[in-house]
Amino acid sequence: MTLKLNYENPSLRGTVQVPGDKSISHRAIMFGAMASGVTKVEGFLLGDDCLSTISCFRKLGVEISLTGKQVTISSQGKEAWKEPEEVLDTGNSGTTTRLMLGILSGTSFHTVMAGDESIAKRPMKRIVNPLREMGADIRGRQDGQYTPLAVQGARLTAIDYTMPVASAQVKSAILLAALEAEGKTVITEPVSSRDHTEIMLKHFGADITRQNGVIELKGGQKLSAANVQVPGDISSAAFMIGAALITENSEVTLTNVGVNPTRTGILDVIENMGASYDLKELEVEGERAANITVRSSKLTGTEIGGELIPRLIDEIPLIALLATQAEGTTVIKDAEELRVKETDRIAAVVAELSKMGADIEATEDGMIINGPTPLNGAEMNSYGDHRLGMMAAVAALKAGGQVEIHDPDCISVSYPDFVGQLNSLLK
Ligand code: S3P
Repeated sequence: MTLKLNYENPSLRGTVQVPGDKSISHRAIMFGAMASGVTKVEGFLLGDDCLSTISCFRKLGVEISLTGKQVTISSQGKEAWKEPEEVLDTGNSGTTTRLMLGILSGTSFHTVMAGDESIAKRPMKRIVNPLREMGADIRGRQDGQYTPLAVQGARLTAIDYTMPVASAQVKSAILLAALEAEGKTVITEPVSSRDHTEIMLKHFGADITRQNGVIELKGGQKLSAANVQVPGDISSAAFMIGAALITENSEVTLTNVGVNPTRTGILDVIENMGASYDLKELEVEGERAANITVRSSKLTGTEIGGELIPRLIDEIPLIALLATQAEGTTVIKDAEELRVKETDRIAAVVAELSKMGADIEATEDGMIINGPTPLNGAEMNSYGDHRLGMMAAVAALKAGGQVEIHDPDCISVSYPDFVGQLNSLLK
């Protein structure tokens, strides 16, 4: 299937509620399934990735019902889970695969996980190694580097672990295994990554501390059910923000967007690039949220690297597109993690934006972009990667001709109605 987009001098005006945060939605299902009692989740992301998480827990015998964006999870805790008869299908979701590895390592039964072609290429040793140090019994292709992965539940012991890469998925898998492990697990994070797991563990009654980049959690803690309000996903909002910034006469308000400081690197970057936007923080419990209003802006190039990278890692395809419309040079470095996302996002972003006439060059750990350049219509690939698909759709707003996106269905991994919502803002 292809998606054909052809815009003529578009302006975007109006208000949008972007779908629920993907990271928080996954965790709400996982924590609700681990806890005893009934957990209600509001604002859940009905994207393919989070639906994969639901289907995996149903196969473990957890009762999960969906009514609109509300999910109800009824569980009697991990002890009541049963050995699944089928392979757990994690679809395109790295978060499902990796966090579940941590959760399943400490059970008393056997499971097998496998996902799609993209998941089969994503490195798992970064999780498997620390989990094996804890006593986990995990087998997979190339000594556990790739799916399918078989997990035989085992008795775990706590570890003291220093994270070699800033990855919330690795950190979370260890923390979720640590709940079952004997002793106190200590994780040192030289560069901090998103902390939704730590926040939600507290919310479900766990005792977890963090001081100067050191996280501590004692094993043997049981979670109790708690309701979760999922704010809008800033990684999805980023594409609407970008669309408003690069089109003329635009003003868009995004309501109830999650603004956890470990996720707001995109706002720092657009501010540096000269964007005009306002943020009004909302009074909510748990994860922070805000309404964000963005206007058409004249952008300038910027430099992005170091500790900022984990705070905006999923937004780099969109930032690269903004840089093509900004005056001057943008340098993105220290972002080698992009090479092992849903696709190699450095190679894919450079290939796709080059087709449209951008002046963009790949480096080992990022890219260099000179702007502004006019963009032309082109046939674009999504590489089955939702964020590449959305980058192409936003780029179409500036293209002087038709943009045809191949395999656009992948957008539903994180933002099922993205194109519909974008078009609803057209004036
Ligand atoms: C996520 C963590 C990040 C991010 C991914 C979601 C999470 O991955 O890119 O989209 O929910 O923990 P890494 O942990 O690999 O950096």
